[in-house]
Amino acid sequence: MRPILPAAALAAALAVLPPPVHAADPAPLMASRGIVVTAQHLASDVGAQVLRDGGNAVDAAVAVGYALAVTYPAAGNLGGGGFMTIRLADGRTTFLDFRERAPLAATPGMFLDAKGDVVPRRSLDTWLAVGVPGSPAGLEAARERYGTRPRAALIAPAIQLARDGFVLGPGDMAVIGTATEALRRDLAAAAVFLRDGQAMLPGDRLQQPDLARTLQRLSDEGPDAFYHGPIGAALVEASQAGGGLIAQADLDAYRVREMRPVECDYRGYHVVSAPPPSSGGVILCEMLGILGGYDLRAMGFHSAAEVHVLVEAMRHAYRDRNNQLGDPDFVDNPIKHLLDPAYHAAIREGIDPERATPSSTLPAEAPEREGANTTQYSVVDATGNAVSVTYTLNDWFGVRKVAPGTGIVLNNEMDDFTSKPGQPNMFGLVQGAANAVAPGKTPLSSMAPTVITRDGRVAMVIGSPGGGRIITIVLEAIINAVDHGMTVQEAVDAPRIHHQWLPDTVYLERFALSPDTRAMLEGRGYHFTDSRPWGVAEGVITGGPTLGQSAEGSGAGSLTLGAQPAGGALFGGHDVRGGAGAAAGVD
Ligand code: DON
Repeated sequence: MRPILPAAALAAALAVLPPPVHAADPAPLMASRGIVVTAQHLASDVGAQVLRDGGNAVDAAVAVGYALAVTYPAAGNLGGGGFMTIRLADGRTTFLDFRERAPLAATPGMFLDAKGDVVPRRSLDTWLAVGVPGSPAGLEAARERYGTRPRAALIAPAIQLARDGFVLGPGDMAVIGTATEALRRDLAAAAVFLRDGQAMLPGDRLQQPDLARTLQRLSDEGPDAFYHGPIGAALVEASQAGGGLIAQADLDAYRVREMRPVECDYRGYHVVSAPPPSSGGVILCEMLGILGGYDLRAMGFHSAAEVHVLVEAMRHAYRDRNNQLGDPDFVDNPIKHLLDPAYHAAIREGIDPERATPSSTLPAEAPEREGANTTQYSVVDATGNAVSVTYTLNDWFGVRKVAPGTGIVLNNEMDDFTSKPGQPNMFGLVQGAANAVAPGKTPLSSMAPTVITRDGRVAMVIGSPGGGRIITIVLEAIINAVDHGMTVQEAVDAPRIHHQWLPDTVYLERFALSPDTRAMLEGRGYHFTDSRPWGVAEGVITGGPTLGQSAEGSGAGSLTLGAQPAGGALFGGHDVRGGAGAAAGVD
């Protein structure tokens, strides 16, 4: 449920709202002193309370990270990893990589049998699928380096939610109920998430006493309790008993990497996003670079003309994604080339304005599929600090195993590696040697936590789960806001399209194209596949309910970014596709 606007805020919002683009979409949540948008409403409330108590956006993001591990246990996590893109009010940008690493005993052939064939589901369902978790180190690194509040203050709400429990709503059960069958197979997981072997029901209270004790230890002792203490020891014991590779040496070796984000410009906006080991920011910027040469606004949302160039940009960029990128400690990523405007212009020149480019005519390998089993949250505080986090266990509930006594659900992130060149992973990705398994290496990701600025101020924060589709979800949300003048709510809710080079088909959400638009594009050689909705984007727009109008300065009553209401208006939109989430504001 989206919180109800206070009457004064509602009146202010109506006063500044431009004519609605989609009259049927609800208004985004408006707040003046901070906003937190996550996939679980209790976690959003935790973040907003941290801001109210004087914490900054990083503090709120850290507290939300712990809270989602309790209230959104299928993807929020301590046993997985993720990325945090930070843009501070003073203009500095940075990126924390706390994604999982391959154990030191990992080998390129670990998911193959003696004949060299991929062993089905070994990289998904077994202890070999588990990468060395990064979330406990990452959340604390963010707090130590950029937060202002004591660790205990940021973990306390999560401890309370785990210890006292919370009542599951239908939206929570839509997520938790996805893995009942698999959770039954792990005694420790079944003890936490099932009741007598059956799925819990809306109205039931989920209490996680082991997780509460683990969080209390992390609060008292910091991440050492995980990497050099009893929590890690329990993980090592469970992994070794179950035939996994994680050893104490892996926990000793775990380091958070702080890196420079990938940055690029799009129609006067500055985009700050995830560098390798994610493909997210590079491929997002490549697509924006190609699309910057077209007048998408004039073409119109999902017109045949716009879909034509969107799909061609996606096709070309995903071809580059699958074979060229990997962990930067192990491979040279051709980022400069992929972000080069001359390269984007060359791609545009190769696009036939009347016909689809068959992917078979573009040299190389590889595909991927849908999903939403990760989670994004976006935070902006009153001073203009902005944080975008995507973190994950990979699949819903990861490997669906809990290290006994810890309450920690473990990831199956090893599946993001290339098990064997030419063989698809869970997302249908057929990747190359750049992403082969190696000891201590990080698997290539698509996660794209993104912050967008204009004229030195935060303009938008955005990100989403969705496996390989994450990058096109974020792309479309940005285009919806920048080119089509949608509110942040409209931008995250609007129906999506996706193309990933191979298979050579355009995936469509319901209502993404009108029948005559689709027919027109089929006439140009496009193939379509109707899909269930995908992704759960979480967005914030600052300064006005829309960017498009402020950017172009058009439309009566529009706001410009230089003319924000006192305190700066913040607008949050939680994707309607996620049943449990909400935006929470601070006024
Ligand atoms: O890092 C990645 O790209 C994936 N492990 C993200 C997984 C995800 O979004 C799950 N949803 N389908």
